[in-house]
Formats: sequence, C-alpha cells, structure tokens
Amino acid sequence: MSTKHPLILIVDDNPINIDLLLNILKGDYQFGIAKNGAKALAYLESNIPDLILLDVMMPEIDGFEVCKKIKADPAFKNVEIIFITALSDAKYIARGFDIGAVDYITKPFKAAEVKARVQTHMSLKRMKQALNDQNLILEDQVKIKTLELQEMFNATVAGMAMMAESRDPYTAGHQHRVAAFASEIARHMKLPENQIEAIRISGLLHDIGKIRTPVSILNRPGKLFRAEWELIKTHPVVGYKILNQIPFPWPIAEIVYQHHERIDGSGYPRGLKGSDILLEARIIAVADVVEAMSSHRPYRPALSLKSAFNELKTHKGTLFDPDVVDSFISESSAILSKAKAETPITFNGLEADMAEDMAAINPQIDLH
Ligand SMILES: [Fe+2]
Repeated sequence: MSTKHPLILIVDDNPINIDLLLNILKGDYQFGIAKNGAKALAYLESNIPDLILLDVMMPEIDGFEVCKKIKADPAFKNVEIIFITALSDAKYIARGFDIGAVDYITKPFKAAEVKARVQTHMSLKRMKQALNDQNLILEDQVKIKTLELQEMFNATVAGMAMMAESRDPYTAGHQHRVAAFASEIARHMKLPENQIEAIRISGLLHDIGKIRTPVSILNRPGKLFRAEWELIKTHPVVGYKILNQIPFPWPIAEIVYQHHERIDGSGYPRGLKGSDILLEARIIAVADVVEAMSSHRPYRPALSLKSAFNELKTHKGTLFDPDVVDSFISESSAILSKAKAETPITFNGLEADMAEDMAAINPQIDLH
C-alpha cells in the first residue's frame, strides 16, 4: 500500500448504495465502481484495489462467486474483501468468512460503522504490509549472514586441511582432490545435496589426524617400518578425536574415523564390515585410493589411472563398496574432469610451492 489514498472498489447493483458509501468514505480514499460481478472482475484485470466492498446479492454472479474468483488468484492475495449484506442475509455471513472475506457491513448503512470498519481494516492491512516488509529485510539480513558464516566455515575447513597437508608436501592437495572426487561420485549416485556436502567436508579433513604423525615418517621415501606404519594407522582415530570437538551438522568425525575401513572387515582401526561402514566413508575410501594411486609419492612415481581402475575392479565387493566402484568407473571421465574443475587449488603448482617451503626448512628434501 503506497502513501497515496488507498483504493476501494465498491461493487453493488444498487446505485443508491454506491452513492451512500461514496459519501460516507469520501476524502480519505480513491474509488473504483462496479455495478455487477462481471464488471468487478473486469475492473480487477487492470487494477489491484486495497479493499473491496462487495454486495452479496447481485444478479448473475453473486458476491460469493466474485469473492471466490478473486481469492483464487494469488495476484489479489493482499486485497481485503468486506461483504455488504442486508440484515436478512445475516445467515450467509459465516459463508463469507469461510471463502476469505475479512468482515461484513449490514444494510441499511450506519456511517460511523462503515467508516470504522473500513479504517480498521486499512490499518490492519498497513500493519501486515509493514510486518511483511520487515520480514523481507530480516530474511535478506539472514541470507547475508548465512553466506558470511558459510564462507568463514569453508575457509576454516580449508585452513585445517592445509595445516595437516603442510607437514607433508608430497600429499599436498590430496584432501582437496579426494573431496572433489568423492563429492562427484556422490552426485552421480544421486545422493541428496546435504549428504554430498557432508562428503565434501569429510574428504577435505579425512587425513587431518596425520597432524600427529611425525614429519620424518610422512616424508620418508622407501618402505616404512612396522612401528612407523602402526603410527600412521592411528590417524583416523586422531582425526576423530579432533573433529568430534566440532558441532558439525553432519557426522564428519565418524566418517573420518571410518575412511580406512573395508567392506570385508580387513580395514582399520575397528575392522567394520559392509553397511556398518557409513556410505560417506565408503565413497571417500574409493576416492582416496584413486587419488593416492594417481599421485606421486616419495617411494614411487604416480601410477596411471588405469592401475587405479584395476585396483578398484580387483577389490570391488571385498575392499570397496561395489555400487560406489560401479558409479565411479561408469562415470569416471565426467567425475574426474568435474572434480578437477572444481578443486580450488592448482595441484602440481601447490605441491611445488609447498615442496620449496619444506626444502627451505629441511634442505635434504629432493625437489627433483
Ligand atoms: Fe587416510
């Protein structure tokens, strides 16, 4: 409703009633006039009044029919309708309210009553409008704040991922790539967006527990000693303990805890089997093996994607979830190219940068 005078449409087949209402209400409002239901509907094709004073008993289309037609059109959801009824129509009043009218005025008119009822509904309408406007402003503010929080959350998660990876230049970017692969696999499996987000976050943080693994073990080329391997194997538990402190809206800590579990129970740390392993963790397991095999490691060069596929096919149903493997292999080129496009880091560039940083601290690292 604008600051100009509110527009009232008077619909009545009796010209005397129209004149009476115009006289009572003049000065504070603008008016539209329709002498029957059809003309009222035609008027509404090019006007949206604030209020309609609608006679009930009219030839052809009566007030109830007109009211129903108006209320069925969302364009008029904010138009208030007050029925005008003869006292003998009083039994119809309840029906009027049922179909969406906000009030009724009885004939013969009493000027004070007509003025008071119209004013009351105009005030209510202004208040409703003000409340709606306020709600829209609040919704916008909530949207902005939510976006800010989302950005802060993403930056924090990326920072945590980077912190873990900074200790191991050879696997820099690994978690980002696993997150991107795993999210794309989940998308091809048609999982809900909320679950895909849980997989993305878990992927970004799945190896955060390696923060407690000594750098000398993470960076050491060659085969690991048993004790060193046992130490590395604690990273899912360490990751769980770190992430369990954070009230994520998803079971991120548990997914990270399970990302080295295998379908046949041969994984670690708890030897979970089959569907006891969260689907999110089963997806990350597949993305993890593909990423790890296709990337360079201190003890071997990067293997081909074909070897990663063979590994998945060989162990499909024993180590890896068969549905996840099938989804990945059947859509692998789409998954890999989308994941690469969405990963916010230049894989090799970052690896090189971080390797240089590490070399500055620890000159025995061979950059070549
Ligand atoms: Fe891991």
